[in-house]
Amino acid sequence: MNTFLQYNPTKLYFGKGQIEQVSTILEKGLKVLVVYGGGSIQRNGVYDDVMKELKKIEANIFELSGVEPNPRLTTVRKGVDICKTEGIDFILAVGGGSVIDCTKAISAGAKFDGDAWELITGKAPIESALPFGTVLTLAATGSEMNSVSVITNWETKDKLGWGSPLVFPTFSILDPSYTFSVPRDQTVYGIVDSMSHALEHYFHRTENTPMIDGFIESLLRTAIATGPKLLEDLESFEHRETMMYISTTAFNGTLMNGTDGGDWATHRIEHAISAVYDIPHGGGLAILFPNWLEHVLLEDPSRVKKLAVNVFGISPEGKDDTEVAKEGAKALRDFWNSLGAPSTLRDYDIDDQEFAAIVEKTFIKPGVGTYKEMDHESVRDILKRSL
Ligand code: NZQ
Ligand code: ZN
Repeated sequence: MNTFLQYNPTKLYFGKGQIEQVSTILEKGLKVLVVYGGGSIQRNGVYDDVMKELKKIEANIFELSGVEPNPRLTTVRKGVDICKTEGIDFILAVGGGSVIDCTKAISAGAKFDGDAWELITGKAPIESALPFGTVLTLAATGSEMNSVSVITNWETKDKLGWGSPLVFPTFSILDPSYTFSVPRDQTVYGIVDSMSHALEHYFHRTENTPMIDGFIESLLRTAIATGPKLLEDLESFEHRETMMYISTTAFNGTLMNGTDGGDWATHRIEHAISAVYDIPHGGGLAILFPNWLEHVLLEDPSRVKKLAVNVFGISPEGKDDTEVAKEGAKALRDFWNSLGAPSTLRDYDIDDQEFAAIVEKTFIKPGVGTYKEMDHESVRDILKRSL
C-alpha cells in the first residue's frame, strides 16, 4: 500500500426523513441560495420539504433554478452573481450531480474576484469558498460526498473536472425515497456511473491492496445483484437505499485509500465526448468502459482477469489469461446491455466525424490514465471500438 491521508469532512445524513436535519444544522436567519435543476424537485415534493425546513429557521431564501444536466458555466456565473449581489451566507444544492457540481463552482466563484472559469481551468488558485450543503435526489456521481465538480463551457465546448478540499459539502441529506421518481434511463445511468467509479479505482498499480480490491469487488457484485431488481420496481426503498449507498461510497475517497488513485482515462474520454455532443455521462461510460477493458487487456490481461473471476464468476479453468479477461469485458458489456444502457456511439447518432476534436479535448489537461497511460493513438483506438 501507499501512504495515505483519509480526509472527508462531509456529514452524511442517510435514511428516510433525514431532511428534518436541515433545520437543526443551519443557524437561524441565514441568507440561503437554493440551487436546483429543471423542475423534478417541484414535481416529486422535495422542493416543499426543503422550503418547510428553511422556513423553520426563518431563512432569507433566494433561488437559482434551471441547472442543466452537464451544468454550464453560464449558470455558474448566474449563481455567483446572486451570491455576490445578495450577500448569500449558505448555498443548498437540491438535485443530482449536475446541481451539486454547479453549486461547488458557485461556492468557489462567490469568493473570487475574477471569472469562475479561471478557477475551473486552474489558472487561478481556489483560496476560499462559501459553505454549502446538498439534498441528493439521484444516486450516481458521488458528488454529495466528494470535492470534485465537472463544468461545461459550451462556448469553447470544454467539459472540465476540477476540485478543491474547500468544496466538500458541509453536509448531505440522502433519503432514498427522494430517488423514487428518477426515471428508468437515469436510474440505469446512475448504476453505470457508480460501477464505473468503482472500476476506475480498481485499475491501479499499487501492490498489496487486498482489502480495497475486495471492497471494490464486493461493491460491484452488490450493484450487479441490485440493479436489475431496482429496475423491476423503481419505488423499492430497499433497492434504492442500496444503490444510493453504493454510489456515494464509490466516489468519496474510500476506494483510493492506500492506492495510486486508479486510472480515470475512461472518464476523461467520456467528458470529451459529452463536451462535443452533450450526452448523459452514464450513457457515455456504458459505451466506453468495456472497450477500454478490451484495449488494456491486450497488453496486460492480469487485472481484467481478476475482475472477470472475482466479480463476474467466470471460470479460468483451461483458458489463458487473455481469454478469461475477454470474457470479463464481455460480461460487463452484457450486464449493462441487459439493463438497457447504450453500447455504441451510434446509439447517440455519433460517428467518427469529431474524433480528432474528442481526442484533443481528452488531453486538455495532461496525463490521461495511470494503469494504462494513454496517448492519442490509444484514445482513437477506444473510440473506434466504440462506434
Ligand atoms: O434537472 P432536474 O429537473 O432535476 O432533472 C434531472 C436531470 O434531468 C433528473 N433528476 C434528478 N433527480 C431526479 C430527477 N428526475 C426525477 N426524479 C428525481 N429525483 O435527472 C436528470 C439528470 O440529472 P444530473 O444531475 O445531470 O445527473 P447525474 O447525477 O448523473 O450528474 C451528471 C453530471 O455529473 C458529472 C457528470 O459529468 C455530469 O455532468 N459528474 C460529476 C462527478 C463528481 N462531481 O464527482 C463525477 C462523475 O464522474 C461525473 O463526471
Ligand atoms: Zn462518473
